[in-house]
Amino acid sequence: MLARIVVVWCVVSTLMQLADCYNVLVVFGHPGKSHYDVFKPLFQELGERGHNITIISHVKTQGDIQNVRDVLLSDQPVVNVLNMSSFTGSWIQKFLEAEMIAKFAELTCEAALQSENLQNFLLEDNKFDIILTELFNTNCFYGILTKYKSPYIGLSSTYMLSWHASWFGAPVSPSYIPDIYMAYLPPMSFLQRVENTLMHLVNVFWYKVFMEKPGTELSLKYTGYEPADLHNASLLFVNSHYTLHGVRPLPPSIVEVGGMHVVNRKANQLPKNIEKWTNESPSGLIYFSMGSLVKGHSFPENQLKAFLNVFRKLPQRILWKWETETMKDKPDNVMLTKWAPQFDILCHPNTVLFISHGGLLGTTEAVHCGVPTLLLPIFGDQPLNAEAVKSHGAGVKLKWKDAIKKNIKEALEEALSTEKKQNMKALSKRFRDRLVSPLQTAVYWIEYIAKNTGQYLRSPAINMPFYQYFLLDVILFYLVLFSVVVYVSFKLGSKCCARKKNKIKVN
Ligand SMILES: *[C@@H]1O[C@H](CO)[C@@H](O)[C@H](O)[C@H]1NC(C)=O
Ligand SMILES: *[C@@H]1O[C@H](CO)[C@@H](O)[C@H](O)[C@H]1NC(C)=O
Ligand SMILES: *[C@@H]1O[C@H](CO)[C@@H](O)[C@H](O)[C@H]1NC(C)=O
Repeated sequence: MLARIVVVWCVVSTLMQLADCYNVLVVFGHPGKSHYDVFKPLFQELGERGHNITIISHVKTQGDIQNVRDVLLSDQPVVNVLNMSSFTGSWIQKFLEAEMIAKFAELTCEAALQSENLQNFLLEDNKFDIILTELFNTNCFYGILTKYKSPYIGLSSTYMLSWHASWFGAPVSPSYIPDIYMAYLPPMSFLQRVENTLMHLVNVFWYKVFMEKPGTELSLKYTGYEPADLHNASLLFVNSHYTLHGVRPLPPSIVEVGGMHVVNRKANQLPKNIEKWTNESPSGLIYFSMGSLVKGHSFPENQLKAFLNVFRKLPQRILWKWETETMKDKPDNVMLTKWAPQFDILCHPNTVLFISHGGLLGTTEAVHCGVPTLLLPIFGDQPLNAEAVKSHGAGVKLKWKDAIKKNIKEALEEALSTEKKQNMKALSKRFRDRLVSPLQTAVYWIEYIAKNTGQYLRSPAINMPFYQYFLLDVILFYLVLFSVVVYVSFKLGSKCCARKKNKIKVN
């Protein structure tokens, strides 16, 4: 009822030109729930402002977004699927990240595109003012963008992926911009730059050949349209912020909204048993979670043992996200929970440390709440996030494969130190200190693009030929010119000298 009143008010006020309400389409084809969760507060805010939102995704809205219509691609978003034993942490693993997400797209595109809900939706006669869509591992859903011919905005739930920059004409420079799957922060050594450059090229190639090409075929087959060319996107929202991930130059069409998913949140009361466990710990609480994708209980046995042996001797209590009922040899100061309100726990005054895999949502929440972290990155963007936190002295990074007894003990001691605590508090302060909140920023730009249709933010670098962009032709021109000048002066010089010599001889 309330929703209807808001929409009616919106239609009336649009007619009276008091405010503009738009028909917004959201396309979230990737089934990983954490990706969707980054942007959910944005959809809530848009709904509250009276816009009419249609969300194509794997996540059913639970009455927590106004003016929304779900077009569900499946019954279940993906959580708790990865087995930690499958990540070796070897050098080559990071070069296979792109292949891994390409495989993921292969597994999910066809099923999602075939879904009855989507197919019926595409048969309807709808018009949209603006489309928001995730830019991740495939273009198989971008036929939908072509169909509705409206301006579209990309959403990236991570730091920028290797293939994003050139679509928006952002500088691509592996000399100082770390690739998302390569955890080298500047300044990079020669060999790091060699590796970072290779990584960038491999990833861009992988996207073109193993994601874009098969995605184009699927898009044509199931939507009937060629996927939209992302060079035509109006804007990109990236889930990063320079206070955490470091500075890189961005055109106005790339907007950093890192922190958006926590900005308006107030920590809620914890569930009774967790509250009691936390409050009654005299030395504070350590919260341990390896994220929503990884099965906590797929911990290799020797590493589990190592952690438990260290935990046993700690004065703190530990709350561990763990999906099964029991854990072998569980010490008394460890409590297991299948699910926990992570944000509320991290912002609880008695929480002293967050042990995690370095996923961006949890890392951002820890930074927002100012809780030091011990990060055990496993794959994807986790090593980079961990390195970013470490670079501010606000946490400790321990490679997953190095997480054995002695290292765990040392890393924990360091992470619990006063220095890390102070650095994290300072980072948190910088991170939250914004001119405008990231959520308001995103809303502003969405309405801006819907209002001012046209490509006013488009960087002139887009679609420039490679040789022009890198000034190869100009460099060549000057090299030739310089060579000619040097050659001619040399020739003239030697002639002139020869004449002088002749003169001397005559005398
Ligand atoms: C909201 O969007 C849906 C498309 O999913 C459309 O059918 C409906 O008419 C729209 N409502 C308004 C009030 O514009
Ligand atoms: C972008 O859109 C324009 C007009 O809307 C079209 O002519 C052009 O081919 C599209 N693609 C690129 C890469 O610019
Ligand atoms: C994880 O993988 C390892 C080795 O491949 C296997 O032994 C173990 O049972 C798996 N664990 C879970 C929880 O699936």
